[in-house]
Amino acid sequence: MKFALLFLRLLPPEISHSIALNFLNFLYQLNLLGFLFSYNDYGESLDFKGLTFKNRLGIAAGLDKNGDFIDCLGALGFGFIEVGTVTPIAQSGNSKPRVFRFPSQGAIVNRLGFNNKGVDYLVEKIKLRSFKGVLGVNIGANKTSEGQKRIDDYIECFLKVIPYADYVTVNISSPNTPNLRKLHLEENFLPLFEALHLARMERKYTNPIFIKLSPDENEETISVILTAVKKFDFDGVITSNTTVNKENLIFSGQHNLSGGLSGKPLYAKSNNLLKIAHAHDPQMFKIGVGGVDSKETFDMKLDLGASLVQVYTSFIYQGPSIVKKLLK
Ligand SMILES: Cc1cc2nc3c(=O)[nH]c(=O)nc-3n(C[C@H](O)[C@H](O)[C@H](O)COP(=O)(O)O)c2cc1C
Repeated sequence: MKFALLFLRLLPPEISHSIALNFLNFLYQLNLLGFLFSYNDYGESLDFKGLTFKNRLGIAAGLDKNGDFIDCLGALGFGFIEVGTVTPIAQSGNSKPRVFRFPSQGAIVNRLGFNNKGVDYLVEKIKLRSFKGVLGVNIGANKTSEGQKRIDDYIECFLKVIPYADYVTVNISSPNTPNLRKLHLEENFLPLFEALHLARMERKYTNPIFIKLSPDENEETISVILTAVKKFDFDGVITSNTTVNKENLIFSGQHNLSGGLSGKPLYAKSNNLLKIAHAHDPQMFKIGVGGVDSKETFDMKLDLGASLVQVYTSFIYQGPSIVKKLLK
C-alpha cells in the first residue's frame, strides 16, 4: 500500500485522485475491498435524529463530489459519507493547476471551485447506491449565481436531494467560489436560512441540516451565525472548511498560493472554531473536520465537543488504513 501511495504522489494530484478512487472501485467490484481493508467492526455507533452512524468517522465533502464512489468508500468502513459539493448545473471549476500537495507537511491547497456534474447526476448516483450507512449531501451554488439566484441554487439542490439524503450540509464556506463566504454575514445568510427553513417545513424534511463554517471568521461573526442556526432549527454545524491563511505552510513562497488549505496546518484553526462553537452552545451538534490524521487528533475533536469527525487530506496521504488507525 505504501508503494502505491508513493507512486500516486508522483502524478499530478487530480490524476492520482481519479486513479486511486477508480482503483478502489475496481477492487470493490471484485469484492476484494472488504477482504483487503476489513475495518467494518471498529468504533462505537451513534444515534442522532433517527440516523444510526455505525462509527463516528466520516469522509468529508469534496472527495466524492458526484457520488461516483459511495459504495466503495462505504466498504472501507466509514460510518458516514458526505458527497458534493453539488450545484444545480454542472460546472468545470477553476482552471488547472488547482490542487497542490505538500506531503511533508501533510497538507493540500485546493482551488477547485465546485467542479461537479450537477445535482441531477448526483441524485441518479445516490439512487443506485447499495451503501446502507449514513449518506450526507453537501449543497452549494453555481459560480455565476449571485443575489437571489444564489439562494435559489441552494433551494433547488435542497429540494432535489432531500428524498435521498440522510442529512444535508449547506456549504457557505468554500473559499473558491467568489463571495460565497460573504454568506457568513447576517444580511446575506438571513434570506438563505429563511428560504431553507421554509423549504424544509413545506417538504416536512425532518432529517438533519448542517451548516458548514469557515475557520477564517472572527468569533463575533461565528456567534451571530450560531445563534441563527439555532433560531432556524437547523441541527448543527460542521467545523470547518479549509482556511485561506497559508502562514502555517513552511515555505514563504507557498503563502501567496490562492485556494483553501487543508490537513495538518489547519488542525489548530479548525479546533479553535470547534471550541468557539462548543462554548457558544454545548448542546448544538457538531461535526469536527480539519487536520485529523491520528488517533490523538481524532480523539481531540471529540474531546472538544464534536459528536462526529470527518477526514479528507489524511485519507489522501495515508489511504484506506486511516479508518483502522483512527477507530481502533
Ligand atoms: C481537494 C479538496 C476539495 C474539497 N472540496 C470540498 C467541497 O466540495 N465542499 C466542501 O464543503 N468541502 C470541501 N473540501 C474541504 C473538506 O471537506 C474539509 O472540510 C477540509 O479539507 C478539512 O479537512 P482535512 O484537513 O481532513 O482535509 C475540500 C478539500 C479538499 C482538500
